[in-house]
Amino acid sequence: MSARMTSLSSSDELIFFVNGRKVVEKRPDPEVTLLSYLRGALHLTGTKFACGEGGCGACTVMVSRYNATSQKIRHYPATACLVPLCSLHGAAVTTVEGVGSIRTRVHPVQERLAKCHGTQCGFCSPGMVMSIYTLLRNHPEPTLEQVTEALGGNLCRCTGYRPIVESGGTFCAEPTVCRMKGSGKCCLEEQEESSSVRAQEKVCTKLYDKDEFQPLDPSQEPIFPPELIRMAEDPNKRRLTFQGARTTWLAPVTLPDLLELRAAFPHAPLIMGNTTVGPNIKFKGDFHPVFICALGVSELYLLNSEDDGVTVGAGHSLAQLSDTLQSIVSKQPTEKTETCRALLKHLRTLAGPSIRNLATLGGHVATRATISDLNPILAAGKATLQLISKEGPRQIPLDGAFLEKSPGAGLKPGELVLSVSIPYSTQWQFVSGLRQAQRQENSMAIVNAGMSVRFEPGTSTIRELQVLYGGVGPTVVSASRTCAQLVGRPWEDQMLSEACQGVLDEVHLAPGAKGGQVEFRRTLLLSLLFKFYLRVRQGLSRLDPQKFPDIPEEYTSALEDFPIATPQGVQMFQCVDPHQPPQDPVGHPVMHQAALKHTTGEAVFVDDMPPVGQELFLAVVTSPRAHAKIISINTAEALALPGVVSVITAEDVPGENNHKGEILYAQSEVICVGQIVCTVAADTYAHAREAAKKVKIEYEDLEPRIITIEQALEHNSFLSPERKIEQGNVDQAFKHVDQIIEGEVHVEGQEHFYMETQTVLAIPREEDKEMVLHLGTQFPTHVQEFVAAALDVPRNRVACHMRRAGGAFGGKVTKPALLGAVAAVAANKTGRPIRLVLERGEDMLITAGRHPLLGKYKVGFMKNGLIKASDVQFYINGGCTPDESQLVLEFIVLKSENAYHIPNFRCRGRACRTNLPSNTAFRGFGFPQATVVVEAYMTAVASHCGLLPEEVREINMYKRLSQTAYKQTFHPEALRRCWKECLEQASFPARKRAAEDFNRQSRWRKRGIAAVPMKYTIGFPVAYYHQAAALVHIYLDGSVLLTHGGCELGQGLHTKMLQVASRELGIPTSYIHLSETSTVTVPNAIFTAGSMSADISGKAVQNACQILIARLQPVIRRNPNGKWEEWIKKAFEESISLSATGYFRGYQTNMDWDKEQGHAFPYYVYGAACAEVDIDCLSGAHKLLRADIFMDAAFSINPAVDIGQIEGAFVQGMGLYTTEELKYSPEGVLRSRGTNDYKIPTVTEIPETFRITLLHSQNPIAIYSSKGLGEAGMFLGSSVLLAIWDAVAAARQERRPHETAALSPRSPATPEWIRMACVDQFTDMIPRDDPSTFTPWSICVS
Ligand SMILES: Cc1cc2nc3c(=O)[nH]c(=O)nc-3n(C[C@H](O)[C@H](O)[C@H](O)COP(=O)(O)OP(=O)(O)OC[C@H]3O[C@@H](n4cnc5c(N)ncnc54)[C@H](O)[C@@H]3O)c2cc1C
Ligand code: FES
Ligand code: FES
Repeated sequence: MSARMTSLSSSDELIFFVNGRKVVEKRPDPEVTLLSYLRGALHLTGTKFACGEGGCGACTVMVSRYNATSQKIRHYPATACLVPLCSLHGAAVTTVEGVGSIRTRVHPVQERLAKCHGTQCGFCSPGMVMSIYTLLRNHPEPTLEQVTEALGGNLCRCTGYRPIVESGGTFCAEPTVCRMKGSGKCCLEEQEESSSVRAQEKVCTKLYDKDEFQPLDPSQEPIFPPELIRMAEDPNKRRLTFQGARTTWLAPVTLPDLLELRAAFPHAPLIMGNTTVGPNIKFKGDFHPVFICALGVSELYLLNSEDDGVTVGAGHSLAQLSDTLQSIVSKQPTEKTETCRALLKHLRTLAGPSIRNLATLGGHVATRATISDLNPILAAGKATLQLISKEGPRQIPLDGAFLEKSPGAGLKPGELVLSVSIPYSTQWQFVSGLRQAQRQENSMAIVNAGMSVRFEPGTSTIRELQVLYGGVGPTVVSASRTCAQLVGRPWEDQMLSEACQGVLDEVHLAPGAKGGQVEFRRTLLLSLLFKFYLRVRQGLSRLDPQKFPDIPEEYTSALEDFPIATPQGVQMFQCVDPHQPPQDPVGHPVMHQAALKHTTGEAVFVDDMPPVGQELFLAVVTSPRAHAKIISINTAEALALPGVVSVITAEDVPGENNHKGEILYAQSEVICVGQIVCTVAADTYAHAREAAKKVKIEYEDLEPRIITIEQALEHNSFLSPERKIEQGNVDQAFKHVDQIIEGEVHVEGQEHFYMETQTVLAIPREEDKEMVLHLGTQFPTHVQEFVAAALDVPRNRVACHMRRAGGAFGGKVTKPALLGAVAAVAANKTGRPIRLVLERGEDMLITAGRHPLLGKYKVGFMKNGLIKASDVQFYINGGCTPDESQLVLEFIVLKSENAYHIPNFRCRGRACRTNLPSNTAFRGFGFPQATVVVEAYMTAVASHCGLLPEEVREINMYKRLSQTAYKQTFHPEALRRCWKECLEQASFPARKRAAEDFNRQSRWRKRGIAAVPMKYTIGFPVAYYHQAAALVHIYLDGSVLLTHGGCELGQGLHTKMLQVASRELGIPTSYIHLSETSTVTVPNAIFTAGSMSADISGKAVQNACQILIARLQPVIRRNPNGKWEEWIKKAFEESISLSATGYFRGYQTNMDWDKEQGHAFPYYVYGAACAEVDIDCLSGAHKLLRADIFMDAAFSINPAVDIGQIEGAFVQGMGLYTTEELKYSPEGVLRSRGTNDYKIPTVTEIPETFRITLLHSQNPIAIYSSKGLGEAGMFLGSSVLLAIWDAVAAARQERRPHETAALSPRSPATPEWIRMACVDQFTDMIPRDDPSTFTPWSICVS
């Protein structure tokens, strides 16, 4: 090889276009991705990095290519993190910067996303823009379904997606808001007629004005560069060679040349979409010295449609395959398109559009991945592969043997897949594709299957049967033995039971198998087979109804997959008082102040900041052990690598390495997997990361290793003392109740999954030992504290700047301080600026998240559902250091009564110390977990009393002026209103009855509906946590610079502060600028958390503005008709200070834990939500049909921001309670570390109908009588969990009426939990393993 490589060592030029500009790269590096090239070399930082594995869409760009044969240009979305730079020769790339800019012209897509409030933190927004923009380039008037589909690969953690879809929907020809499922009547009109809210006050529903939108003019889009057309049509095109430092990229343009190279480099991957090769390089450490890119070989794009099938060239993308199949399905008779339709179904949910446009059919087939969605169907449909090598062509079946990688059944060295032939089905043949994933779309299957049966014509006698499963072993598995045994058998129940038994005998899944969920996966083998069985029976009946009876009516629901519906929303809020001055923005749905910068990609996040001179990159080395002694750290090999400047360890910390129990660098011992042991500083990221891998650390395991709450209890391992609240006489009360029940509820943790991972830029200043940090944090003061302690300098030498964060949700309260200090120590040691950007997996591993919780309850109640006594014990898994666990625990104890008055109530809690990364603050701060326990016992009481859970909730709800269990007085009037409105407006009783009717008629799909009330505490039981300050300068031109101590995390805090300042100063917001939050301008600011920041910063801003206005009063009085600018000029001439600090001392709260009482919180936010779901009892899937939220907003300063917070929190809550599942090994290793393994909701998960109403009430203590709404919506997401429990209970009631009470509720209600809770003949059939005989792949840590 070396001889050939020498001859190839000179590099060709890579030519492509970016945003209309020609880029010529003289020595392109084959290891570089488009994303790092855009961000690094071109400094186009609008394209974001958030996962690096194609799973989030933050890096979406549009790629355009010209096809010289068809003379057509193809525009498609692509995830830049997976596109190798070298693959772009001859392509035109459009990034968000090329679409529009606030400096020139904002594109309608960008404008509408911003104005529809489809951006909060803005980190996902460029990707959203590019997905919609690319759709519009291909379909200027798309359908709503196309919009929803286009967004399927883009994750947003803030908005809840509804406004994003709505913004895309504004380009549709059809109406986008409320089609009322074809009834023709708008639901707004219906609401208008019935709502008692409306009867009392004027309610608005318009969050933006469509008339303001610029029209879309497709003729204005940039043209495809003519030079690229000439390049594509050049008859003398030749192979290109790109030579990197370690690798060579070979791009042949003819098939013979490709085959030569394939023969010469048999181990070199054939790069097509790079969606398998790329992630394997990044995450599995694969290294390839040579890449062969076959994208330019025209023979791979053959498309041949014949009478008996279609042959598709291996180079076609999965999106192109989908188009081809769609065209076939529309033209061919149904019986011929069984395989095509099965493939199409899976192609709709396979990854997102960007991946489907990159990934090729050849790459998909050749990879033979166990979770391939297409291969099992292709095999069941008897597809064949046309292979070719230098030796000539060959055809092989794409069958079980090929997929199982049986010897001799695959490709020979030097061969490649030229095309795939997919035969049409015949009349007595049925082909199905089935799958179940954690999430419906953009989620690899847990188990999938391809099944096909061919009958003797006119009979139900099996002539041929194929059953293949993915996800149950290292390869796709064929149940060929079972299938062979069933040939000749009629398609009836007896055959099914033998088939099930045969499959279980043949497809073995070991109890500790990789991926876990073993019993679930075994059950899915049967469930999917059963679905196929029913579908075929139905098909036979359609062919000959006389001969083959149809399946029972109540079974038909088993056959329908949940549709991917386009979400519809209605938002209602109080209209602004018509007497309010028009320029006063308070109360209006004002767009986020940085929205346009978000959507144009011009909003600067920390890693978007240009390199600072001499900057170094930092890579972290973390512990792979949960509890171990560090025997040695050997850095020699790492230090010898090119570009490496330093390895930093605990020895290099000049000050405190352990500050208040939080450890920067592990010293002699590691206490969790993921603890930072050392860091490596190098000139590039790649060098730093390579070197980090070479640091050799020897460990010796220590005992005990505590991972779960149960283990912590065994070892008496706690972080802090118990907290308790008690009222009444609990023990006595238990003696006088009709019934007592006891139970345990497990609520697992949650990853914040903010889209911007933790990022720090630390810049040392030689002079006076100053250190300047830029980072996305919720608590700059805390960063300053930790950095000062670590560097042993006074805090006045540390300046911490924070402009914005790409989402935070509590995850950026304490953790940035640790990471900031880690980076600052490195900057201090090297004397050079340090950039630390955590990869998604590292971020998930190191920074931890929501506390897993175990709740044990005992409740005593009367037959009518009235609860007399409740005794609850909470344990949370705090992890290895204190962090905020004690505060979270105290909140759990205080908040857990939720909306219920239980006269004899005891609640205790303890935070467990374990060897997991330290869990931390997360939106809702313990409340969303704790209240699951409360709602679980409400549900259990209802079940024992034969009542609806909602009736028990109602009976036990606070009703009048009351005292909480900790003796805080409050009036629950708004709670009652929210609850009443919710039940009424959601038509709860009628829909409950309808759900029951539905359930009677449907055996395999069940419907659940639930409503839940909420009393949510705002603020803290510590008075000084509520203080805030602001600084307002007025400049001589009248412009105002506003600064305050709160951080903009996407929640719209700055937008609200601009509204406050605008009202108070009486000037338009355009006069006011808000730049950043900094310890330099506002010192000692408290964290931005707890839904408090608009309250307290608002008061501080108001105070500063009022001080200034008071100073200006004499000038204004003398010239009342003057202009603002004139008053300012005059004031300056009169030596009036135009700068003021504003201060708010805070709400007075307190808590005496000894007396178990206090005025713990300034006020409460009330709410209620009703959710309705369908569950598929066979697969465990669920679909949220509708959600209604009623939130007591008091007076909303900005209804768009508040509704955005509620929707976003609700969807995040939904994720917590359904699809988001952290998986830990028994050794404490977090296994779920990226978009591939951890599933936050996508656009597909949000309710089909999503209604939000802000109710008006009074809250005189807060600014403008508003309320803090940042977190409360999170818990309302539990209505989805409760609805799922309701549906599961219906299934269990039908199947095992006597076991209903035995249902042990938990969160999250994943497909696995739902399926296994819906016990039936299939769950009974599967083998169960004795837990003492194996080590599970993952464990529950709550
Ligand atoms: C975020 C994400 C989500 C995904 N979700 C799903 C999912 O839900 N369901 C699912 O089934 N899959 C999923 N995938 C996997 C995806 O379908 C495959 O990665 C893809 O089809 C591989 O095609 P490619 O062109 O990118 O292959 P590449 O990565 O370019 O190549 C993969 C391998 O195939 C070989 N190869 C490529 N072409 C040929 C050929 N013509 N002849 C011989 N060998 C060849 C290469 O040598 C290489 O070894 C997902 C992938 C990503 C990144
Ligand atoms: S960063 Fe590319 S898809 Fe997430
Ligand atoms: S706005 Fe979408 S991730 Fe923040």
